[in-house]
Amino acid sequence: MARISLNGIVKRYGAAEAIHGVDLDIEDGEFVAFVGPSGCGKSTMLRMIAGLEEISGGRLHIGGTLVNDVEPKGRDVAMVFQDYALYPHMSVAQNIGFGLKMRGETPDTIRDKVAEAARILQLDELLDRRPGQLSGGQRQRVAMGRAIVRKPKVFLFDEPLSNLDAKLRVEMRTQIKRLHRMLRTTTIYVTHDQVEAMTLADRVVVLRRGDIIQHGAPLELYSRPNCRFVAEFIGSPQMNILPGTVVAADAGAAIGFDGGAIALSRVDAPPGTAVDMGLRPEHLIPCAEAEADFIAEIDVTEELGSDTLAICLMAGRELTVRLPPGHGGRPGARLPLCFDRRNLHAFDAGDGRRLDFTA
Ligand SMILES: Nc1ncnc2c1ncn2[C@@H]1O[C@H](COP(=O)(O)OP(=O)(O)OP(=O)(O)O)[C@@H](O)[C@H]1O
Ligand SMILES: [Mg+2]
Repeated sequence: MARISLNGIVKRYGAAEAIHGVDLDIEDGEFVAFVGPSGCGKSTMLRMIAGLEEISGGRLHIGGTLVNDVEPKGRDVAMVFQDYALYPHMSVAQNIGFGLKMRGETPDTIRDKVAEAARILQLDELLDRRPGQLSGGQRQRVAMGRAIVRKPKVFLFDEPLSNLDAKLRVEMRTQIKRLHRMLRTTTIYVTHDQVEAMTLADRVVVLRRGDIIQHGAPLELYSRPNCRFVAEFIGSPQMNILPGTVVAADAGAAIGFDGGAIALSRVDAPPGTAVDMGLRPEHLIPCAEAEADFIAEIDVTEELGSDTLAICLMAGRELTVRLPPGHGGRPGARLPLCFDRRNLHAFDAGDGRRLDFTA
């Protein structure tokens, strides 16, 4: 069993605290992604779990054992980095088998295990090449091969795909997902790409400035972000934010904004509270003018084939609207829009926390 348990984990670099007491339990076999903006502490967390960085406070358990002071090689974790870190003078087979050789395995065992990893990662044909003779994606697969032959308790990935082009990233994403389905090894995957996190992980952990802001299944974060930061970080194109004010909280409750108002049956904030309303591009629905909550003007359209994104202007503000295919919105055209009330979000404009309301 390789459950990972973080209790009050702190990291200090001199006087500066980079991680402020993180609590998190990762189940055996779970695939968890850490996301967040640059500098939020993703790599630091991963490196502490790997044993490459000293833990300043709190307790870290892997598979039920307290490992705070255990050397990296005693933790039975394998880490895959962004820059592959392959040995340039060794062949692919030697690179993959290196850890096994250091562990004193016999040449026969090494050969068998390397062959198995090469088959899983489709590297069979490349075993005699040197890293310099491989593409970026192939090198990344070798780095993964080196991790999987050791059959570790835990895989740790630090932005493993960020050096690859967009198409290859998508291919490798599928490859990693298959690998996890096959091996069921507990995995932590660091990325600043929320799409990668959402598509790969069972659970996404959003970090900001050394704290966990929210964690949950990808769709949970998408449909119920607990604050404006998560709301804007998860989802592409980004959620639209419309500043407004609570007009009345109970009977006749409404949030007013520049260009209209939205009637609700209850809002969990007193009248006068400044709120940021959040609406994803697919939750602004084109409708007949008579039914519209407000009228926007189409500024730019982006045809994506499967649908069209319209960047609209409303009271001087930009809103992105996802139009159905063939809607035919033209720049300059008036676009009457309804809010999808079940998918409306509201955040306190002061501290950004989610506000409850009844539509
Ligand atoms: N060796 C170090 N000495 C001092 N401060 C450090 C050190 N390593 C990291 N930090 C600081 O700790 C914080 C977290 O850094 P970390 O590398 O974990 O961020 P990250 O989320 O991985 O960012 P990125 O997405 O850019 O890789 C940052 O403020 C960084 O400047
Ligand atoms: Mg990093």
